[in-house]
Amino acid sequence: MTYSTITVTPSGQACGASVTGLDLSAPLTEQQVTEIRAAWLEHHVLAFPDQILTDDDQERFTVAFGGFGDDPFIAPIPGRKHVIAVKRLAHETSPIFAEAWHSDWSFQARPPAGTCLYGITIPPVGGDTLFANQHAALDAMPGDLRARLEGLMAIHSAKKAYAPEGSYGEGDMARRSMDIRPSREAEATQLHPLIRAHPETGRLGLFSCLGYIIGIDGMSDEEAFPLLLELYHWQGREQFHYRHRWQKNTLLMWDNRSVLHAATGGYDGHDRLLHRTTIAGV
Ligand code: SIN
Repeated sequence: MTYSTITVTPSGQACGASVTGLDLSAPLTEQQVTEIRAAWLEHHVLAFPDQILTDDDQERFTVAFGGFGDDPFIAPIPGRKHVIAVKRLAHETSPIFAEAWHSDWSFQARPPAGTCLYGITIPPVGGDTLFANQHAALDAMPGDLRARLEGLMAIHSAKKAYAPEGSYGEGDMARRSMDIRPSREAEATQLHPLIRAHPETGRLGLFSCLGYIIGIDGMSDEEAFPLLLELYHWQGREQFHYRHRWQKNTLLMWDNRSVLHAATGGYDGHDRLLHRTTIAGV
């Protein structure tokens, strides 16, 4: 696509592009929304550097690409219904939030299309966000592994993370500054195909991974777990990566239907704060 209202610079990695030439503190024009959506569907992760944004601006940007998604298990920041703080304090010793590969809220019946994350306090070292392109992971997959995945339905659930005994459960709350609210509701399950057509582009990709995927429909755990683990290692291979190195005032927008993402640490002794909004699935 030729862009007339934005400048799109690909990262040169397996996905990701930087978008400049626009001011997100002002409402977007229809043409800008069309062009950003096209760039997002092509590159899967878009970074908008040097944007001075309020929560209102971030919310307006988010709804321009769909309604707000439903964010369970994490309380919104005071005064907002749709903004979550992804936060870690300098002295905090809790495990890094979201450090394993995942696709946001893939356990929902209608998982979110995208996530927007805005950098407010960015540590001088570490704290990059990694992305893995799941169209590329499927395209490059050896035929024998792909043949074992074709037609399988994955069982998704939030229970390993957000049930009371999960990794963000009751034992984790006291040491974490993020306002996570574990719940029995995390035990619900939902099926999605392991290989799935992207709802907007139709392009096939791998959807979500071990973690929110807890099994395979109709398969014993003894058979499913080694397969999901083999798949997990394939999905996260370096050849599929985009590494986002944060700068303050960057808004990042990613497509949960096309990429996995994972937070990274390496910034102990420094605060980190980002505001997150969720774009509903179509
Ligand atoms: C997330 O998964 O929303 C957090 C990513 C990050 O902290 O880098």
